Amino acid sequence: MRAVVQDRYGTAAVLRLENIARPEVGDQEVLVRVHAAGLDRGTWHLMTGKPYLMRVAGLGFRGPKDRVPGRDLAGTVAAVGSGVSRFEVGDEVYGVGRGSFAEYAVVRADRLAPKPTILSFEQAAVVPVSAATALQALTDHGRLEPGQRVLVIGASGGVGSYAVQLAKALEAEVTAVASSGKLDLVRSLGADHVIDYTREDFADSGQYDLVLDIAGNPGLRRLRRALTPTGTAVIVGGEDGGDLTGGMNRTLRALVLSRFVSQRFANFINKERASDLDRLTTFIDAGQITPSIDRAYRLDQVPEAMGHLAAGQVRGKVAIII
Ligand SMILES: NC(=O)c1ccc[n+]([C@@H]2O[C@H](COP(=O)([O-])OP(=O)(O)OC[C@H]3O[C@@H](n4cnc5c(N)ncnc54)[C@H](OP(=O)(O)O)[C@@H]3O)[C@@H](O)[C@H]2O)c1
Repeated sequence: MRAVVQDRYGTAAVLRLENIARPEVGDQEVLVRVHAAGLDRGTWHLMTGKPYLMRVAGLGFRGPKDRVPGRDLAGTVAAVGSGVSRFEVGDEVYGVGRGSFAEYAVVRADRLAPKPTILSFEQAAVVPVSAATALQALTDHGRLEPGQRVLVIGASGGVGSYAVQLAKALEAEVTAVASSGKLDLVRSLGADHVIDYTREDFADSGQYDLVLDIAGNPGLRRLRRALTPTGTAVIVGGEDGGDLTGGMNRTLRALVLSRFVSQRFANFINKERASDLDRLTTFIDAGQITPSIDRAYRLDQVPEAMGHLAAGQVRGKVAIII
């Protein structure tokens, strides 16, 4: 099969297209004929091996353990493991697999769900990681309630574009923070208010019950200023935390601070699970979330797609058509 491969960490120049053997499917796994894959920041981190803390955490010291990059996918079931009963050959599915920048990829059955029928493969492929992260941030960790005021920092990117739509679907009043050129996008996603972070400090703009801190690495003092006295800030990510720890020190300080103040700070690593995909399908079927695709690239254009993401130019999500 055709697949993008990489043997060491680095820029997009480490990626190349090769013919390799199809992956073997395990007992609890499904082999998917990939029609489209999604690109996300996590895949970019796995390509670069940064922050370095990730390597120590077991992702491979000198190079990635998995040669084929890509996690999000949508496609058709080509084979099922002996322990899998939920799927049959031919089913249209979406989920989080290993090595989705390839014609075939293996996915654990508990990370796969039937594809929403109203979405194309291209649209479905850009949902799993980013939308599930947004959902978990708002509900499991942010404990959002209807009527609350939510600030989404990093609203124009992969996670943020879903967070804005999901927060609206959960009946919150949403303020979206983005750069000037992407304010139209976050408005079109349903944000009630927008803040251009190049002109205005979100911390001056009001008090929020929940802040999703997805980008920009703001200081804890600014986050506290943006919150109500009993508000919650969920630290999702951010690309300005340095190559070594990726901002982990700020997160650790936030978690310690949380024990001594009335405001709450939370942080999490997203869980990849079929139950969240099923929840997302309900929102999709109801027309409450729609993937916002900036551009779609062919498999041989994955390096270009990575460059586009790394430059911070993406509006919403990027898809790879296999
Ligand atoms: N905790 C987890 O399990 C988890 C899961 C998924 C992702 N993440 C992390 O979450 C972060 C976002 O991921 P993503 O996939 O959404 O990335 P992305 O698609 O690259 O989006 C990031 C967005 O942030 C915006 N941005 C950059 N600086 C900003 C600032 N100072 N203020 C407000 N917005 C700013 C960028 O556009 P503009 O600046 O042009 O508006 C961009 O649209 C990454 O660090 C990723 O590693 C964590």
